[in-house]
Amino acid sequence: MSKTNESLMQRRQAAVPRGVGQIHPIFAESAKNASVIDVEGREFIDFAGGIAVLNTGHLHPKIIAAVQQQLTKLTHTCFQVLAYEPYVEVCEKVAAKVPGNFAKKTLLVTTGSEAVENAVKIARAATGRAGIIAFTGGYHGRTMMTLGLTGKVVPYSAGMGLMPGGIFRAQYPCELHGVSTDDAIASIERIFKNDAEPKDIAAIIIEPVQGEGGFYVAPKDFMKRLRALCDQHGILLIADEVQTGAGRTGTFFAMEQMGVTADLTTFAKSIAGGFPLAGVCGKAEYMDAIAPGGLGGTYAGNPLACVAALAVMEVFEEEHLLDRCKAVGERLVTGLKAIQAKHKSIGDVRALGAMIAVELFEDGDHHKPAAALVNAVVAKARDKGLILLSCGTYGNVLRVLVPITAEDALLDKGLAIIAECFNELA
Ligand SMILES: Cc1ncc(COP(=O)(O)O)c(C=O)c1O
Repeated sequence: MSKTNESLMQRRQAAVPRGVGQIHPIFAESAKNASVIDVEGREFIDFAGGIAVLNTGHLHPKIIAAVQQQLTKLTHTCFQVLAYEPYVEVCEKVAAKVPGNFAKKTLLVTTGSEAVENAVKIARAATGRAGIIAFTGGYHGRTMMTLGLTGKVVPYSAGMGLMPGGIFRAQYPCELHGVSTDDAIASIERIFKNDAEPKDIAAIIIEPVQGEGGFYVAPKDFMKRLRALCDQHGILLIADEVQTGAGRTGTFFAMEQMGVTADLTTFAKSIAGGFPLAGVCGKAEYMDAIAPGGLGGTYAGNPLACVAALAVMEVFEEEHLLDRCKAVGERLVTGLKAIQAKHKSIGDVRALGAMIAVELFEDGDHHKPAAALVNAVVAKARDKGLILLSCGTYGNVLRVLVPITAEDALLDKGLAIIAECFNELA
């Protein structure tokens, strides 16, 4: 019997716990740049990029060649047992890209959650404090500490009881939903007044553009005041660039556009073009706060993932992908705004580089998030051959994370499908 999405779905449901969600009932067989072919031979345009992992597209030839070459040499030693050069080279190259005119060191791990966990460990060791401030709508991962930092209970931590203590929640600034920079800063001051003294706070962790939370961009004046607050109280600023990093926003790291620098930066996803690699890069004095043995992991900084990351960074240079990122963002925003002009339900089209969101409201009323319409658009777009993702605290945001390497013709095809979906649904 030939494989179908439905037959595989039945096997999946019997074998995989339901907690592992699945947005599209499709099983991928192969992919190339911004196209995916499923097990039934149907081709889809990929505007999801494996959730921000494929800025350089599926199977970029240079990245694949680098991994194939490494496969003939060495796949694993555990860096803490026998070291290898690509790990060190990734650390050097990432440190050169992370904003901040100070000496830096970099730790490599495997997932974004692990990167955030380690950033918290480093901040605690560096400051001798335990408290962490995170933001409403923030997403930092699915391990216990990162679930605590994540500012959305359903579905991420629902049914699991209370998360680790010592985490305080401030408001993420978002004018669209009535939270000004003043409000957001006041919410931090309130934590200092009501919950914990600043001297007990090790770090404030923030996504410069919220990912799962809805692609809201932190205003520059907020970031400046946040940095000043951290400096005033000896608190470290952690920029979680797991989703924004590796060129998604038009600069290699989004913090380059925020006017301030973080003490610690987490990265993952597109840094290795689909191979599992993540890390923390920060001020050398903080990164060295933990004694030998306190950082690492069996697979952390795997050689295959490291050579993939080195290839990703070369591809960015050679193909001028930061420029391309801005062009992709502009093309899609122009197209999406044209669709917005015809549909009242589209309340906002926003982007930083090619991190693009469309926020939907019932009757254009900003108090009525239209999550059902988002789900309907995602489903209809899939039927028409386009893979889209939703996000947002209220589930009412469509997000686009298409490979930056996608051709204009494919972007236009995707836009045309989105326009058709709104014509038929909204
Ligand atoms: C900003 C941010 N931090 C952390 C994570 C967690 O990364 P991972 O899923 O690799 O553990 C994500 C994943 O979406 C993310 O967007």
